[in-house]
Amino acid sequence: MAKILIVDDDVMICKVLDQFLKKKGHETLFFTAGKKALEELRKNSVDVVFCDYRLPDTDGKEMLQKIKEIDHSIQVIVITAYSDIKTAVEMIKRGAFEYVTKPFLPEEIVLMVDNAINLRNSFNDQDRVVTNAENFPLQDGKLSKSDFHYKTVKANYLVGKSKEALRLQSQIELVAPTNYSVILYGETGTGKESVASSIHMLSSRREKPFVAVDCGALTKELAGSELFGHEKGAFTGALQSKVGQFELANGGTIFLDEITNLSYDIQISLLRVIQERKIRRLGSARESTIDVRIIVASNEKLSKATMSGKFREDLYHRLNEFSIDLPSLKERNSDIILFAEFFLKNVNAELGKDIKGFTPETQKVLMEYNWPGNLREMNNVIKRAALLSSKDLIALETLPKEIVFQSKFNLNEEKTTTTDVTPSRMLPELKSAALSAEYEKIIEVLRKVNYNKSKAALLLNIDRKTLYNKVKSFNLMVND
Ligand SMILES: Nc1ncnc2c1ncn2[C@@H]1O[C@H](COP(=O)(O)OP(=O)(O)OP(=O)(O)O)[C@@H](O)[C@H]1O
Ligand SMILES: [Mg+2]
Repeated sequence: MAKILIVDDDVMICKVLDQFLKKKGHETLFFTAGKKALEELRKNSVDVVFCDYRLPDTDGKEMLQKIKEIDHSIQVIVITAYSDIKTAVEMIKRGAFEYVTKPFLPEEIVLMVDNAINLRNSFNDQDRVVTNAENFPLQDGKLSKSDFHYKTVKANYLVGKSKEALRLQSQIELVAPTNYSVILYGETGTGKESVASSIHMLSSRREKPFVAVDCGALTKELAGSELFGHEKGAFTGALQSKVGQFELANGGTIFLDEITNLSYDIQISLLRVIQERKIRRLGSARESTIDVRIIVASNEKLSKATMSGKFREDLYHRLNEFSIDLPSLKERNSDIILFAEFFLKNVNAELGKDIKGFTPETQKVLMEYNWPGNLREMNNVIKRAALLSSKDLIALETLPKEIVFQSKFNLNEEKTTTTDVTPSRMLPELKSAALSAEYEKIIEVLRKVNYNKSKAALLLNIDRKTLYNKVKSFNLMVND
């Protein structure tokens, strides 16, 4: 259940959404003007806001900015007309979660709200990992914390059958029981975080926390306090003391994603933590001993980053006790259909559907496509296709059109003429066209910067968290 606020000058729209969301078990309230809604938000926060772009006393852009100032983690869904789609895409660039056009599709609203809530919750996820682990009932003979976590990990993890998959799995199993630091290399969405979590679950630390930190999302100013914590009054604005991620991970494993984004100063502090196994919160005189296994991930080779001076060589050697290269989805071609079926099974359960599989031509397109966003991209493509499907088998029309186009482009000419795909058979909506333009731009920039999301965000002129969310939700092609 979430708290949802609706702002629309059309009171009918407010009522329809309000009743629908209430029926789904959410707590809702609505306003027909922007200022009043903001006043309420300043007093009582909510999880999600549905906000009409055109309001009598303000507009969506100003609303979005003000809402984000009040609480950055509130997820804003913009309500818009078809004629305003360009503006809506612009709003997404500025940090809106999604946009929705009238008339509303109930399924679309439900999915959107669920995903917005997940994202909102993920802002506190690290805390929750620990809290959950601690609150989980530990009774003799019953499920243990590790069973709980391990089942969750396993249910979401497919090893695969390709040569590359087996090599990856044997490396995971080899290094997991040791205390070695591990560097994971792999393109975006290849499963680095999932592998890190598998290593943790297969180690003797599995009862202790697994804490994932996205170094690319840490600002230079806050990275130190986020990782190592701070005492009250350590700097202006430090009103309360804060436990850092290393302390939260004590006894367990910390996963530092996009490690090359850490500033030089933080790299020095990190080196000290590794060497001395002690941490000191900012503004504190006291050091405490910690025992944390470190797993890091990077898109670029750290050896290369040391040569350009971006990454400290001593830190690199400390971390480089073992390294694993994750294959791209394209490299593990013979796993493609396995993964598609695996994701379909999960989404069937999520949507309460019973889609049996894929038409032969869909399978062919899945096999031909390059999958630049790897497993994450495929997961989202399958989710979207399943949502749009009303048949027993997933058909081509439900795939994003650039996937069909690209794979068509990959096929030889003879095959092309026999493929019964024409633009008119593909998703015709304006929304999908606008999103696909944005998606293509993001993918183009990501490729250009070798999938370094911080650099990509800079080039795209959006903040990194927004880009991260977009990549995560498969680059806008789905309401994921
Ligand atoms: N072996 C797997 N089996 C099933 N799903 C997987 C597997 N590996 C990854 N996934 C799914 O693919 C998506 C991307 O995985 P993950 O976040 O681990 O990738 P990543 O390499 O850390 O991505 P990024 O570079 O964007 O941070 C997630 O939704 C995850 O659940
Ligand atoms: Mg990751």
